[in-house]
Amino acid sequence: MALTIIQIPAGAGANFAYLVFCPDQLQGVAIDPSFAADAVLAAAAERRVQIAVVANTHGHHDHTAGNAALLAATGARLAAHPADGTTPDLPLADGDTLNVGNDHLTVMHTPGHTPGSVTFVTTGAALTGDTLFVTRCGRADLAGSDVNHLYDSLQKLKALPPETVVYPGHDYGPRPVSTIGDELRTNPYLLCADRESFIKLRLG
Ligand SMILES: [Fe+2]
Repeated sequence: MALTIIQIPAGAGANFAYLVFCPDQLQGVAIDPSFAADAVLAAAAERRVQIAVVANTHGHHDHTAGNAALLAATGARLAAHPADGTTPDLPLADGDTLNVGNDHLTVMHTPGHTPGSVTFVTTGAALTGDTLFVTRCGRADLAGSDVNHLYDSLQKLKALPPETVVYPGHDYGPRPVSTIGDELRTNPYLLCADRESFIKLRLG
């Protein structure tokens, strides 16, 4: 059975935390606990899910703020890409898999917003962090950002099956989730004809 994904609003910056779990084995991964560690724990307890891993899409504080509380409460291991300056228990690289009960998440390295940004992909869904939002994309003007890398990462996301559901790191769009197909039709950052026009739109 496919992984179940619970989207949890977190904090004043319209973040989303996620609980991703195997409905058969009741093993889960908490992704970007943000400011909602208690809500993630409650969502897991309600479903009798054991959180084995806390994973971050990238190292920004608004995504990692709940890591310590969640790790302490669960004994889980921390998974993240080391390029964002952290020292996780499980350093992630492109193509790695994180087992979640009977299923798994595949790590897609999607740098640009930060050097260590990743997207977690499973059958029919992608958790895109601050790389891709509903009708928007992540900022590329921050310390560590690289607009060329962000363009390349978005091309990788565009190649996912169109029915893939997009679970973003913030609620910045007209609805909390989307699909790759809908984003291909409506997201101005994905509709850019070439790299040059993307850079102009993103940094202009
Ligand atoms: Fe961010």
